[in-house]
Amino acid sequence: MSLLDEGWRFLRSLSPMIAWRVLHSTPTWLLDWIAERERREYDSPALNIEIFGRRLSNPIGIAAGFDKDGKLLKVAWSMGVGFHVIGSVLPKPHKGVRPKMLVRLPDGSTINRLGLPSKGPEKVLDNIKDRRPKNLPLVMSIASLTPEGYGEVYRKLNDVADWFEVNISCPNVKEHSTFENPEAVREICKYMKPMSKPALLKIPPTTDRDIILQYVDVSRECGFRGIVATNTLKIKYNNIEAGLAGPKLYHIVKKVVSEIRGVMSENFVVVAVGGIDSGEKALEIMELGANLIEILSAVVHKGPSIIRDIKMEMIEFSYKEVF
Ligand SMILES: Cc1cc2nc3c(=O)[nH]c(=O)nc-3n(C[C@H](O)[C@H](O)[C@H](O)COP(=O)(O)O)c2cc1C
Repeated sequence: MSLLDEGWRFLRSLSPMIAWRVLHSTPTWLLDWIAERERREYDSPALNIEIFGRRLSNPIGIAAGFDKDGKLLKVAWSMGVGFHVIGSVLPKPHKGVRPKMLVRLPDGSTINRLGLPSKGPEKVLDNIKDRRPKNLPLVMSIASLTPEGYGEVYRKLNDVADWFEVNISCPNVKEHSTFENPEAVREICKYMKPMSKPALLKIPPTTDRDIILQYVDVSRECGFRGIVATNTLKIKYNNIEAGLAGPKLYHIVKKVVSEIRGVMSENFVVVAVGGIDSGEKALEIMELGANLIEILSAVVHKGPSIIRDIKMEMIEFSYKEVF
């Protein structure tokens, strides 16, 4: 068994919130040392894909929330991702909510209420300096409590990002709500002009066709190059508002991806995220039109080898279809 697997087993034996704190307080040099030792190549040319002129070894990344500040960059790389999402990063350091909550449910779901803790863009730049693995595109997930803040963090991270994800599922200090509506997106994108690096809009889960198409329209209007579908589902857990992720999101994500692909060509990038935990689901959602896949709950529940397992299953299933 690898050190990465051992580390995950140890974290899995702790309560999720403690595991999160232990992982984030582990020294970066130790995480990097383990990652360098563990890195194994298990990509096949069959999984290569091109996005925004960058060639990716495979279409799978770990979703925003795993590596808030760029500290786990090499861990993700050693797990074999094709791209890496950092964030969500806020324009200024932000502690998130108190008390925080992280729950693993037996069906593979996760419930989280962290409130977007972020050490800010300067810390991210410092963390990734001299540690960036070659040929690993970096995606910056950005968020803010104000529309102006999106522009600020976009510019600060512009040089190091291969592309951006704009997370609108965050508290809006002005209206005591989130930015989860097309009008708020219009306001945000004003501050992101000129969009010198590709940006994708990450939307909340919905099966309402009209709302999905409104997000498509506003994305095109603003110059977003695609959509990340989807963020967590808002629920109440023990009477506290939180976000649900994992298998229950999958049917919603399928609907969103199909609706977007029904009206937009392949050039409009669609990233599927929510409940993907097997090669079969990854291939199914790509057949529906997703260009890339992101996963998070499956990493929490099944451990670091899930990325390799999904890739191997994808290769196996694709070959079965060909022969
Ligand atoms: C603990 C945790 C933290 C998250 N933090 C973020 C975040 O900072 N920004 C964001 O856009 N999405 C965040 N998400 C949502 C995930 O990126 C993803 O959209 C969601 O978990 C669905 O994928 P999954 O079913 O594979 O977990 C978070 C999810 C979890 C479980």
